[in-house]
Amino acid sequence: MARLTILRYPDPRLHKVARPVGMVDARIRRLIDDMLETMYAADGVGLAATQVDVHERVIVIDTSQQRDQPLVLIDPELVWRSDELVVNEEGCLSVPEIFEKVQRHAAVTVAALDREGQRFERRVEGLTAVCVQHEMDHLQGKVFVEYLSPLKRERIRVKMNKRTREEQQERQQA
Ligand code: NI
Repeated sequence: MARLTILRYPDPRLHKVARPVGMVDARIRRLIDDMLETMYAADGVGLAATQVDVHERVIVIDTSQQRDQPLVLIDPELVWRSDELVVNEEGCLSVPEIFEKVQRHAAVTVAALDREGQRFERRVEGLTAVCVQHEMDHLQGKVFVEYLSPLKRERIRVKMNKRTREEQQERQQA
């Protein structure tokens, strides 16, 4: 397994639309293993392939306390969305240290392939439902800050660019 580099907003590659996987083979299973390792190492609850610059419809999620219940979604589709909406504070491994309120469906049913290529459906709610919707947005090239006002988004963009520059300078000095 290998730890992958996570793209940081406003990297334009975060806006690419992912293509369907179709056939789950050894390459996809290795991608899943690497994505899980990357997500756990970064203390995240979800990661979309888009964030590691692979533009295929693959998502890994783990919202369990023990961090031992990975949910793998390949070619996910939402087949049901609750009418009830909820507002939660969201963060993203591609937008570190930024947390903003976003409105989502309270519960959804997702249909997807698992790592064996078997189709399954799962109804999720709470944090997992938020996570599924957030990660599925990534596959469409959408980052959660795009739900915010243009002014807020611009502030975040400036902050992220500044931080990336500072980190590059620190690396050069080291
Ligand atoms: Ni994210």
